[in-house]
Amino acid sequence: MSKYDNALEIAPGVYWVGFYDKNAGFHCNPYLLVDGDEAVLFDAGTKPHYEIIMRKIMEVVNPINITHIVLHHQDPDLCAAVPDMERLCSPDLKIVSSWRAGVLIAYYGIKSEFYYVDRNNYQLKLKSGRTLKFIPTPFCHCPGSIVTFDEKTGVLFSSDLFGAFSFNWDIEAGPYYMEAMKAFHEPYMASKEILRRSIERIQKYPVKIIAPQHGSVLKGDKVAEAMSILKELDCGDEFIPWQEV
Ligand SMILES: [Fe+2]
Ligand SMILES: [Fe+2]
Repeated sequence: MSKYDNALEIAPGVYWVGFYDKNAGFHCNPYLLVDGDEAVLFDAGTKPHYEIIMRKIMEVVNPINITHIVLHHQDPDLCAAVPDMERLCSPDLKIVSSWRAGVLIAYYGIKSEFYYVDRNNYQLKLKSGRTLKFIPTPFCHCPGSIVTFDEKTGVLFSSDLFGAFSFNWDIEAGPYYMEAMKAFHEPYMASKEILRRSIERIQKYPVKIIAPQHGSVLKGDKVAEAMSILKELDCGDEFIPWQEV
């Protein structure tokens, strides 16, 4: 029995509900935000891990309270569990994404209605008045990629940005995290300039905690440190040597 067998609160009302796989070097992190009788799930998770994720969600809330699932881009590590999940969520469940990601996400066979952030002023107001802000991060790593900033807690749900390969995984980023984060971004993000533009957009928000979809949660000084590293990182176009075929 380890602490990772249960949902973990990473900020007030914000829970990690992922699967800790001791044998994997790559961890997927869905997060659940609870706001009164409403809940929002971020980057819901993989199909093979669906039952584990759902059990952890149920430790925290009745899934019928989940009114929104935010999908920051269309990859299967964050979308594939949704067709199973949506059956247990609110009958008014909305899938929150950019339009560009949403046109592809629909092919998972998701039945719920979409809420496109780019047609809703890049924000979502919950029943309580709490506002989630969405920040476009194009080509980091998909054309329609976005991230979410929760004004109340200062948590940035950053999806693949700030992620890392994670042998010796822990929920909080340890001393070697920055190297693992670089190794993930170098082949995955489109180019240094594109990554820099997204980080500069994110830096306009008072981020206190970064909750990435891979790797570990960043707090304290690590938030600013990670941002300054990614702004200068040679990645994608600069990193992968192009070869004639
Ligand atoms: Fe991805
Ligand atoms: Fe991912």
